[in-house]
Amino acid sequence: MSWTPICKKPAPDEPAPNLIDETVMRAGFSWENARAELAGLPNGGLNIAYEAVDRQVEAGLGKTVALRWLGKNGERREYTYADLAHLSNRFANLLERLGIGKGDRVCTLAGRIPELYVTALGTLKVGAVFCPLFSAFGPEPVRVRVAKSRARLLVTTSLLYQRKILPQREQLPDLEHVLLADGDDDSNVRSFHTLMEAESDRRAPPTTLPEDWALLHFTSGTTGAPKGAVHVHDAVAAHRLTGRWVLDLRPGDVFWCTADPGWVTGVSYGIIAPLTNGVTLVVDEAEFDARRWYAILARERVNVWYTAPTAIRMLMKVGADAAHGHDLSALRFMASVGEPLNPEGVIWGLETLGQPFHDTWWQTETGAIMIANTRDRDIRPGSMGQPLPGVEAAIVRRRSDGGVDLLESGEEGELALRTGWPSMFRGYLEDEARYRQCFAADWYLSGDLATRDADGYFWFLGRSGDVIKTSGHLIGPFEVENVLLEHPAVAEAGMIGKPDDYAGQIVKVFVALKPDHAPDDALRRELLGFARNRLGPAVAPRELEFMSDLPKTRSGKIMRRLLRAQELGLPPGDLSTLENNDGNES
Ligand code: WT7
Repeated sequence: MSWTPICKKPAPDEPAPNLIDETVMRAGFSWENARAELAGLPNGGLNIAYEAVDRQVEAGLGKTVALRWLGKNGERREYTYADLAHLSNRFANLLERLGIGKGDRVCTLAGRIPELYVTALGTLKVGAVFCPLFSAFGPEPVRVRVAKSRARLLVTTSLLYQRKILPQREQLPDLEHVLLADGDDDSNVRSFHTLMEAESDRRAPPTTLPEDWALLHFTSGTTGAPKGAVHVHDAVAAHRLTGRWVLDLRPGDVFWCTADPGWVTGVSYGIIAPLTNGVTLVVDEAEFDARRWYAILARERVNVWYTAPTAIRMLMKVGADAAHGHDLSALRFMASVGEPLNPEGVIWGLETLGQPFHDTWWQTETGAIMIANTRDRDIRPGSMGQPLPGVEAAIVRRRSDGGVDLLESGEEGELALRTGWPSMFRGYLEDEARYRQCFAADWYLSGDLATRDADGYFWFLGRSGDVIKTSGHLIGPFEVENVLLEHPAVAEAGMIGKPDDYAGQIVKVFVALKPDHAPDDALRRELLGFARNRLGPAVAPRELEFMSDLPKTRSGKIMRRLLRAQELGLPPGDLSTLENNDGNES
């Protein structure tokens, strides 16, 4: 591992009340103490939405702005904690009227609109399970996830409904109710707002218990269909604590998490962590635009910003000039997640925005940040940071007998976490076998390859399977290849991530055609269009290359490792320079 200098941060000009003496914090830490900070409910109950809004109203934050929504056409709407408490009560009452309750799944398929946030909180209040779907998914990933979730109710918009649900609604027999955030009652859809108006905004406190299911996040593995990671209400202990410790959220702060709630970051840190910490959450409906983003940081006086390397790279590309003239003096802390944040990104933040980006590491399965560069320690640019209190991380090698060997600092292996933190997923929906594969003894195996230096900082090396990250989104080969195989001309398909300066990786597919099909440009365009229509822009391949045959193992498994080697112009055997290898399924 190459040595990278430590990034000394500018001395804070104010004390850091969140940061208790480090040694005391780490030595005296217990998740029980963290849980004790939550309000809780009678009879040992716990509810994420109650902690996020009602508790804050009781604590006197009723008039504080909880959600500041910036519409893509320049609208601006503010919801106080009291507003969110009332609206989520209404939605919970509405669900109850429709017979939806404990354990039932409620999906959203929408952009960053206020109705999504109300749906999330109201769903949690009745003890149903909130399952967000990314609005840029095409019809195929949407159908697979709604079907697998067995959602009984979906909140969406007219356009997304017409394009992605209506044409395949017969294939979704569990889906009884579709509510449109922007539409009127119709024979098979209802108006979200009309239904909401009929409900009371009062309701008794929730009756959920800490181990009741709360959230369902789909994620992809190397093989098979997407997996539904289940999280419980107990996770809120980790969301709240990491919001405070890692993101340094303090009462009165304005916080902007740029992640979409269609993915886990947009829920854990785009809804739960900020609201349970009583801050004002900024939500921008629009897509990335450098000038718009700088204007938001400045105009909204954002104090804490949580974003992703893809966005940072795009800002770097636009250049420092775009930041000039914007008053970013309110910015106090910036963090990044989702893909490797290179040292240049960290330093660029410091030089251009006045703060370094603090890299953080976690996964859909871990539910909350596990490893981070925290405010109190110097950053090692290029490192993900150190495990948080209450988190024990190690670099391990799986043994053939099912156990693991713990490796020394400097050795490369799989990043593992000792089980037992509150936001750890409790299962993959209807997939016990794959859940069990994630564990060896009492270690959770992340599927990431990493190393730890002598001072306890962790360094990301790559993935052990064939999943890739494109613009921060985790994509598995199964869904992409399967869609291509549906095309009559395609015999074989293999997906890889091709390195890209901005997206990190882009989705690239190699395709072998059936006899009688000519590999020409017209067919290439047709296949790319075919995939895009079904998968949506976030998942669809951007490049397609024809091959007469795909490399396969003797059992017929496509060897994506060799496709990657070919793409990078490497000798096929040279694993050390490849990001991924043929490790375990993850
Ligand atoms: C995978 C998890 C992170 C929560 C939202 C995405 C990669 C995550 C980092 C980082 C390098 C990172 C890992 C991880 N990843 N953070 N700081 N540096 N890689 O959750 O979609 O489940 O993705 O994202 O490969 O396993 P996810």
